[in-house]
Amino acid sequence: MKGWMSKFKAVFALVVLALVLSGCGEPFLSALQPKGEGAEMIYDLMILSIVIMLFVFVVVIVIYTFVIIKYRQKKQDPDFIPKQTEGNHALETLWTVIPIILLLILAVPTVQYTFALADTSPEVNEEGEEQDSLWVNVTGAQYWWHFEYDGLEVSTSQELYIPTDRRVYLSMSSQDVIHSFWVPSINGKMDVNPTGNTNEMTLLAQEEGVYWGKCAELCGPSHSIMDFKVVAVSPGEFEEWVQDMQQVTGEETPESATAQEGQELFADNCMSCHAIGADPNKIGPNLTNFGDRTKLAGVVDYNKENLVEWIQTKGEEMKPGNHMMDAGYELEDEEAEKIAEYLMGLSPSDITTENAEDSVYKDSDLSSLFPEEEEEEGEQSEDEEDGEESDEEGSSEDEENDEE
Ligand code: CUA
Repeated sequence: MKGWMSKFKAVFALVVLALVLSGCGEPFLSALQPKGEGAEMIYDLMILSIVIMLFVFVVVIVIYTFVIIKYRQKKQDPDFIPKQTEGNHALETLWTVIPIILLLILAVPTVQYTFALADTSPEVNEEGEEQDSLWVNVTGAQYWWHFEYDGLEVSTSQELYIPTDRRVYLSMSSQDVIHSFWVPSINGKMDVNPTGNTNEMTLLAQEEGVYWGKCAELCGPSHSIMDFKVVAVSPGEFEEWVQDMQQVTGEETPESATAQEGQELFADNCMSCHAIGADPNKIGPNLTNFGDRTKLAGVVDYNKENLVEWIQTKGEEMKPGNHMMDAGYELEDEEAEKIAEYLMGLSPSDITTENAEDSVYKDSDLSSLFPEEEEEEGEQSEDEEDGEESDEEGSSEDEENDEE
């Protein structure tokens, strides 16, 4: 009875584990539901190696079970020793050749795909002519991503717009420490280095959608929330987006008087780090189309309240360790609100994440990932020493983990 119970417990634990793990992998953030050229190759390799491993596993288990049952000590003849085999050439050859064949089956496509994934030579059309490549310079920084479209005079941060069905070439480096750029649904990871060498990779999204990206290299206290998005829109919409972005100089006068005041305050306090327009010489996130962002700082709910808090606390609690914490400005709450009003109005293009029509992101129920934060009025302790309790983002992350 006791043995039966412990077996039951083990099976129960496995079932629970399977259920928990099956909750992993939202479609817009899953290597198991590939929506891009690279992700598909990687997925195929995963399936191939799993099939081979399962085959080996089954064969070993079958032989093992057979031997255990057939050759176990018999009650009627406890001294019986089965026939001992030594130096069987046929058998030894067999169990050497089979693994070699299996490894070859694994190695050939792996090597082939490794080279294919690393290939950043221009695409060639049916007539054999080289096509113009769309290059984006990607820079990782603690804890955000900068995207500069090569030759187009367009820069943005955090949300990388790309056309579908076209290979987008990334030239990648880092501003501070090593990060790793990873959009699981579209392609594998690529490290970005601060040492001057650039890495290259391509992204090809087959379907429109908003795909989530993560930093996959431990880079500091906010590494786990160094999120970004890839917004794949139709080629026509992408062209339109580029043209709209090119128009922005940062000099545009906003409509409302509050936003106009915000613009002035922004010029006085923020423009030494942030650009609106394509200015490449700024160390902070580019805010050209900030009004179209779906998340604040990559992870926080996009609303004015959070933005004002971000400006006032310099992201200290929302993204601990970020470089904005070094900024020297001092603002009244009222001033921060005006800046927020201005920034949230920066929407130069009609092409936004809404245009990524078949968006797997939109179809998904995100409530499990980002539960509504319960408003605890009057209870907000502002000077928590370690920020753990009052850190809104931290607690919602925890909830997310608990739920899954
Ligand atoms: Cu950047 Cu982890």
